[in-house]
Amino acid sequence: SSLQVMWRTALRCVKANCVFAHRRMSQSPSSLSGKVAIITASTDGIGLATAEALGRRGAHVVVSSRHQANVDRAVNLLQSHNIIVTGTTCNVGKAEDREKLVQTAVDHCGGIDILVSNAAVNPFFGNIMDSTEEVWDKILAVNVKAAFLLTKLVVPHMEKRRGGNVVFVSSVGGYQPFPALGPYSVSKTALLGLTRALAPELAQSNIRVNCVAPGIIKTRFSAALWENEDLMEDFQRQLCIKRAGRPEEIGGVIAFLCSDDASYITGETITATGGMGCRL
Ligand SMILES: NC(=O)c1ccc[n+]([C@@H]2O[C@H](COP(=O)([O-])OP(=O)(O)OC[C@H]3O[C@@H](n4cnc5c(N)ncnc54)[C@H](OP(=O)(O)O)[C@@H]3O)[C@@H](O)[C@H]2O)c1
Repeated sequence: SSLQVMWRTALRCVKANCVFAHRRMSQSPSSLSGKVAIITASTDGIGLATAEALGRRGAHVVVSSRHQANVDRAVNLLQSHNIIVTGTTCNVGKAEDREKLVQTAVDHCGGIDILVSNAAVNPFFGNIMDSTEEVWDKILAVNVKAAFLLTKLVVPHMEKRRGGNVVFVSSVGGYQPFPALGPYSVSKTALLGLTRALAPELAQSNIRVNCVAPGIIKTRFSAALWENEDLMEDFQRQLCIKRAGRPEEIGGVIAFLCSDDASYITGETITATGGMGCRL
């Protein structure tokens, strides 16, 4: 009947509009809408700013760090900014914690699209020749090995979603070792290599692997640097932008790398240093 024809036409119209609206929504290449992002060490500093940046672009963010109280504080803060967030404790140096983090993301968010490996420790200041085996074991285990092992855990989940993004947080010290931070700097150099070693293999799974190398960013981690006026004066001479960076100035770079705006970038490290020279 003509009524049925009218109904069918109306339905087709609605369907077409839905598809159109969906295309329009997914058109912004900087959007992370519908993505699930794990960010390690994300209850303060660069990690928290990254969770905020990914969350503002529509991702469901999974925040974590060692202490439950810090996790709760970060979850509340992000929720108050209307970000979809899940929180759990995770010391990235512990295998059972890494597994719990990945399982939490899968159970609560339905899968994983993005891993930002941001956790790092530095238990040693001084002449590199005074550093001990214990120092090296700790630094390499947390800063390098855990970054790889977490990647290995998330890749099968990214493959289920037919692609994904991994971003490592290195440091300008990975290019030019900081004075008195030898072992830490070397661990950050290792992440530049890890980025390049993983990129070709994971490209086959449509997973991009990139890295960001921040300069001096004002966080608790770097307080020993920016609270020391003599040291900062010395650093500022090397800067074009004569101030320490803000955590959100790294979060934005990471969000870019995880977005479709960066769809042809892999195996790359972006330095965000206020113009501190560290490579050609
Ligand atoms: N700030 C800089 O100038 C600068 C420059 C270059 C690179 N970076 C790199 O940026 C990353 C973040 O540093 P940040 O300056 O943002 O530090 P931050 O502000 O001090 O924050 C550190 C975060 O890491 C968590 N954390 C510490 N150890 C952890 C572990 N073993 N497992 C999981 N979480 C842990 C802390 O929470 P809990 O205490 O609750 O665990 C906290 O949320 C690091 O990789 C660092 O090397 C920093």
